[in-house]
Amino acid sequence: MTTTISQVIKSKQIELVSRPEGKPGKSNFTANTVVLSPIADGEILVRNQWMSVDPYMRGRMKEGDSYVSPFQIGEPLEGGCIGKVVESRNDRFSKGDQVLGNLGWREYWKSNGEGVQKLDPDVAPIQSYLGALGMTGMTAWVGLKRIANLSPGNTVFVSAASGAVGSMVAQIAKANACKVVGSAGKSEKIQWLRDKAGIDAVINYKTTDNLSDELGKLAPDGIDIYFDNVGGDHLEAAIDHMNDFGCIVCCGMISTYNAIEPPSAPRNLFKVIGKRLRMQGFIVRDHMADHDEFVRDLSALIRSNKIVWEETITEGLENAPNAFIGLFEGDNLGKSLVHIQGEAS
Ligand SMILES: NC(=O)c1ccc[n+]([C@@H]2O[C@H](COP(=O)([O-])OP(=O)(O)OC[C@H]3O[C@@H](n4cnc5c(N)ncnc54)[C@H](OP(=O)(O)O)[C@@H]3O)[C@@H](O)[C@H]2O)c1
Repeated sequence: MTTTISQVIKSKQIELVSRPEGKPGKSNFTANTVVLSPIADGEILVRNQWMSVDPYMRGRMKEGDSYVSPFQIGEPLEGGCIGKVVESRNDRFSKGDQVLGNLGWREYWKSNGEGVQKLDPDVAPIQSYLGALGMTGMTAWVGLKRIANLSPGNTVFVSAASGAVGSMVAQIAKANACKVVGSAGKSEKIQWLRDKAGIDAVINYKTTDNLSDELGKLAPDGIDIYFDNVGGDHLEAAIDHMNDFGCIVCCGMISTYNAIEPPSAPRNLFKVIGKRLRMQGFIVRDHMADHDEFVRDLSALIRSNKIVWEETITEGLENAPNAFIGLFEGDNLGKSLVHIQGEAS
């Protein structure tokens, strides 16, 4: 359906002003207001309601080659977002449709509809398409089901276990009759993992003197799958306790993202040989062909009350840099989201 507003729109956006050295700070970002020209034939205008902040965005703040292109200085950042179509000159979309796109960090965006997904707001709260039902939930599922070949009875260790990906890993593994040990950095996160996610044992890595010793105590029969979100000392501790022929799923290594010097751990990588371990990295977007299966699998787990999730919500686009920086301070329990506005007109 075609609707016409076709007026210029003022849109606030968050731009990168400098590349962080070490931990990102507020001075790396600035808010700016730009004017968008009217949409052309075939285009839609979307007003953002929610946006995601993700650790991988730190990699895009650096210059140089990566699996995603770097953010440009003086340009708005990008990332997963959910918004409402406020004007459409594209037959596939109508005014009022809720859509998933990749132009977060701004109020409004225009698109020809390519790569934009229509969402069903009746299935789950709309913002869960950025978390449990979205990229982060799918990352957990792909890592366990496609990379690690999860089997009942496995012992799984997951780091950053109370975060967006980690909390899904922990519960998918529990729902598949695995023993799950997690690590997190705050007592309320530890409590949530025990009481709400129902995992078997949790380490507070910030108060533990020796991560490897503690892991050995909590997984006395060894680890079959390590789902690595953290790298560094966590990876080293996991290697110490991996069972022969185990699998290390290299999902992320957040402890290294702000490092100025190369990380000192893991110092025991040679054990990968004697233990005949498999270490495999993956990028979730390479597995989009499995998306429907992920949605079916996860929906069944949600319906049978085997999956719960938390969201840490930051209000206001102007506070998005704080939400992003908070990922590296452990501020979030579950998925970190920015609520840009309520009902879009
Ligand atoms: N491969 C892929 O396709 C893919 C896709 C999505 C995400 N990822 C990766 O998955 C990991 C988790 O992402 P997410 O979106 O779910 O983030 P998240 O876990 O929700 O948030 C980050 C958490 O990491 C922990 N953390 C931060 N700095 C740390 C450090 N130095 N040492 C130990 N823990 C630290 C904090 O929790 P604590 O309080 O526990 O410290 C923080 O809350 C990241 O490494 C990310 O890059 C990979």
